[in-house]
Amino acid sequence: MLIRNAGQIRSSEITPKSVYLNRRHFMAGSVAALSMGSAGVASAAKLDLVPSAFSTDEALTPKEAATTYNNFYEFGTRKEDPANRSSEFTTTPWSVKIDGLVDRPADYALEDLMSPHQLEERIYRLRCVEGWSMVIPWAGVSLSKILELAGPQSGAKYVAFETVVRPDEMPGQRGFGQALDWPYVEGLRLDEAMHPLTLMANGMYGEELPNQNGAPLRLVVPWKYGFKSIKSIVRITLTEKEPPTTWNIANPREYGFYSNVNPQVDHPRWSQATERPIGGGLGAGRKDTLMFNGYADEVASLYAGMDLKVNY
Ligand code: MTE
Repeated sequence: MLIRNAGQIRSSEITPKSVYLNRRHFMAGSVAALSMGSAGVASAAKLDLVPSAFSTDEALTPKEAATTYNNFYEFGTRKEDPANRSSEFTTTPWSVKIDGLVDRPADYALEDLMSPHQLEERIYRLRCVEGWSMVIPWAGVSLSKILELAGPQSGAKYVAFETVVRPDEMPGQRGFGQALDWPYVEGLRLDEAMHPLTLMANGMYGEELPNQNGAPLRLVVPWKYGFKSIKSIVRITLTEKEPPTTWNIANPREYGFYSNVNPQVDHPRWSQATERPIGGGLGAGRKDTLMFNGYADEVASLYAGMDLKVNY
C-alpha cells in the first residue's frame, strides 16, 4: 500500500522478500506470545458453525501467521503492529449504525445482527494488493442477510462502510504522521454487497475474531484486494452515489473503487500477476494470481460490459 508519508514506506510493503520476512514475522509473533500472552493467541470464544459450499479446499494459512501479519493501520503500519498494539481495544458492547436508504435505520446491537443467523465457516483466500495471499477459515454470514434486516430501499445503489475511530485505544490514530484519514471507509455497489459470497465475518479459525483481524465485525470480499475488507465496522450507509474509499482518497492513481483482483491490471509500481502465500514454509514459492481471485464463475457477470482497466 502507499501511505501518505513516503518516508514511512517499508521495503516489506513494496518488494516481498518471502522466506526471510515470513520467518521474522512468525518468530516475532511467537516470542511476543510466549513473553506476554499476546492478543494473537488470547483465548477466544468458540463459535457454533456449519460448513459452507463456497469454501476452497486449499491448505489453510497457519493461524499464527494470519494473526501476526496484518494490515490494520489504526494500530500502526508495520505488519506486526496490530497483533502487538491492539490488546487495549475493547469490542463489547458493540453496535452498528445502519442508515441512509433503508426502511429500518437504527443502531443495531452486534448480537441482533449476527445471532438471528446460523454462522457459516467459509474458507476464502485473501489476496492483498501488496502481492501476498492467505487462505483463512472465516466465520460469519452473507452481508445480504444483515442488509435485509434494515431493508434496502429501491433508490439504494451503493453501500458505504466505516471503521471505528478510537484514538485512545488505537495508537495509529494518534500523534504525528498518521498514515491515513480516519475513519477508514470503504464501499461496494449494492449488487456486490448483496452477492452471496460477500461475507460479514465475526470469527476465524472457529473462534471470535482477534482484535488485529478486525474484531468484532469485518467485511470479507474474496474477489477483491484485501483492503476492501474493512475491519471493526461501526456504520453501514446505503446511498445513491458511489461513496469515497480510504485508499482511493490516499492515492487515487493507484487504488480505484472496484479493486477487483485482476492479474492483468498491474499496480502502477508492481505486477499483480503472481502472489506469495504467507506462512507456506520454506518450499512455498510464488503462484499465479487468478482473475477475481478464483471466483470468476461466481462474480464475473457483475462486471459484464465494464472496462476493468478503467474501473480498476
Ligand atoms: N480495515 C481497516 N479499518 N484498517 C486497515 O488498515 N487494512 C486493509 C483491510 N481492512 C485495513 C482494513 C488491508 S490493506 C488488508 S490487506 C486487510 O484488511 C488485511 O486483513 P487481515 O489483517 O485480516 O489479513
